[in-house]
Amino acid sequence: MIKRILTGDRPTGPLHLGHYVGSLANRVRLQDEYDTFILIADVQALTDNFEHPELLGENVMEVATDYLAVGLDPNKVKIVVQSMVPELCELTIYFMNLVTTATLERNPTLKEEIKQRNFTNGLPVGFYTYPISQASDITIFKAELVPVGEDQLPMIEQTREIVRRFNRLYKKILIEPRAMTGQVARLPGTDGGAKMSKSLRNCINLGDTPDQVRKRVMSMYTDPTRIHPTDPGHIEGNPVFTYHDAFNPNKGEVADLKERYVAGTVGDVEVKEKLFAALNAFLEPIRVRRAEFASKPERVREIVVEGTRKGRAVAQETMREVREAMKLAYPL
Ligand code: TRP
Repeated sequence: MIKRILTGDRPTGPLHLGHYVGSLANRVRLQDEYDTFILIADVQALTDNFEHPELLGENVMEVATDYLAVGLDPNKVKIVVQSMVPELCELTIYFMNLVTTATLERNPTLKEEIKQRNFTNGLPVGFYTYPISQASDITIFKAELVPVGEDQLPMIEQTREIVRRFNRLYKKILIEPRAMTGQVARLPGTDGGAKMSKSLRNCINLGDTPDQVRKRVMSMYTDPTRIHPTDPGHIEGNPVFTYHDAFNPNKGEVADLKERYVAGTVGDVEVKEKLFAALNAFLEPIRVRRAEFASKPERVREIVVEGTRKGRAVAQETMREVREAMKLAYPL
């Protein structure tokens, strides 16, 4: 049987270059080899957007369009809307018995996110337990491989723990998945921050126009110790060069720019102009495909409906096995 991929994104806004290098590139590369399911994780997104659920609905089709724009082939990948697969909720409830609060408290990504969210009315249980629901996402599809950004590794580890416990306690029916991170696991924000994040306005989105990309690139954070173009510059930790490495296919040009940057014989403007050109060349075919799908929303809707139908069928089959393994398959 052909092995499966499951991964997903929260529909809280347009997908950006960070999503691309962390996970989308691997999905595109592996779609011929793996039976691929991609979850638009609106239920997970609800855990910190429950006061504004309407924001998610708007983004479901946008994210689906981004998937198609980067070259995910609707004849191969199944795009699944999480809230349309209620079996995930059931599995999450069963999994909750297999996880202690101490384990959740140790999850570094969850900890960091809780800090960032600054929940003023206390920590919602839904947010606190989303790593458990993410374990359901992965296991209900019996996925072997999960292409994700580096920040998601603790979620995959949590999933593996749950699977081991489940298989030992009940019956060996679930698959212990592996994570796969991108070549550049974490792309810094254009402001030099740890990662791109919509709320920090340090993103370059896959659907951005050339003007928007240019503006972001030209205002990018570089080497703060360098005042004049003749000062010797630093490459290490300089996001402009991280982006060159990730997106400029002309390795000779990148090597030359680095050499001259360190020597103090090239200005930031030239380095950024060349980065803009490289990024724009990378984004142009994505833009073209995006515009094409965006002009046919009915087609995008069909693709999502079809993917969700296929995904739900897999989920229902797994839940039959889960109930049987847990001795919940009563003859009623
Ligand atoms: N937590 C992921 C993110 O924020 C989204 C996600 C939901 C996911 N379910 C998943 C990723 C299952 C991988 C597998 O990007």
